[in-house]
Amino acid sequence: MTTLKASTGSPYARILSVGSAVPSRVLDNEYMCQFIDSSDEWITQRTGIRERRWLAEGESLESLCLDAATTAIARAGLTASEIDAVLVSTVSWYHQTPALAPSLATRLGITDAAAYDISAACAGFCYGLAQAEALVRAGQARHVLVIGAETLSQMTDITDRATAFLFADGAGAVVVGPSQTNGIGPVVWGSDGEQTDAIWQTNDWKHAVEQGTWPSLGMNGRAVFKWATSFIAGAASTCLERSGITPEELDVFIPHQANNRITDTLLRYLKLPEKVVVARTIQHYGNNSAASIPIAMDALLSSGEAKSGQTALMIGFGAGLVYAGQVVTLP
Ligand code: UT7
Repeated sequence: MTTLKASTGSPYARILSVGSAVPSRVLDNEYMCQFIDSSDEWITQRTGIRERRWLAEGESLESLCLDAATTAIARAGLTASEIDAVLVSTVSWYHQTPALAPSLATRLGITDAAAYDISAACAGFCYGLAQAEALVRAGQARHVLVIGAETLSQMTDITDRATAFLFADGAGAVVVGPSQTNGIGPVVWGSDGEQTDAIWQTNDWKHAVEQGTWPSLGMNGRAVFKWATSFIAGAASTCLERSGITPEELDVFIPHQANNRITDTLLRYLKLPEKVVVARTIQHYGNNSAASIPIAMDALLSSGEAKSGQTALMIGFGAGLVYAGQVVTLP
């Protein structure tokens, strides 16, 4: 039998840089309450959201991705030609095929890179990061661009009291590359197809066309809340264990920005010390799904609340249901 050569990569991988972009249109709770029976007080107390960003005229999923990715590549000190894989985590791309990643790569000046989209909803960024880490360590790619991006405003029924106040738009990107020390801990991930109806698209594309109705996102908020504050809390704890990190050693906590009350429950479960910096970008950006974790990472680093080299726990969870999390060294 002929023996095939195997690729060999870097001993470790790390996040080299982060960039993000949000739409320019700011919608506060009062604005949303024109369309749903709700109040600024209810939305603020139940979720932590005060305002969210929805696409303005001239902005798009692609434009947000381009802005976030351009910043991340520049901050990594790389040129586009040095990126050899592009992963876009999104559920907002209108085309069944081709994926967004190849055309985005070309528009960024990245040539002949592996490029594909990942559909893992609010866990999408952490799914992409897990794949990027594995690609770099296996020698399948040297520099991987991972983008988490959503324009959920395009799939939100503004009159749906269960979702209209929650979902939002944005994009975050990181570049993952080789490292002599480990900067990305083992991923903890999984799915529960028993709860596939917890967050759903109201119409599949075939029926949407037949019925002439644009699909939107439906959500059983209570079911997702319960899962996130029980099962996901355990998964977040496993992330720390698998990376060999105690709560005391953690500097930063960046959970998916789904609801501040979910974040509070996770904090209590994990018994994280007071000194841990906690992402709360949901306040200004709403729940922008796959984009929420990299946007929060960029915001904490840009404001100086978190510092390069610190240890951060991230966990994403959402439609599927799916989840993924890991401990990382901040770029
Ligand atoms: O990112 C993807 C994953 N998604 C999530 O993680 C979302 C998880 N779920 C949630 O964040 C929460 O379930 C929501 C924020 C969506 C809803 O909050 P909740 O505290 O779970 O509300 P609920 O559905 O249990 O309803 C509580 C009360 C009800 O009134 P009564 O029966 O207690 O009188 C609802 O009728 O709040 C009422 N309510 C509202 N009131 C004002 C429900 N929706 C609204 C609303 N405005 N929009």
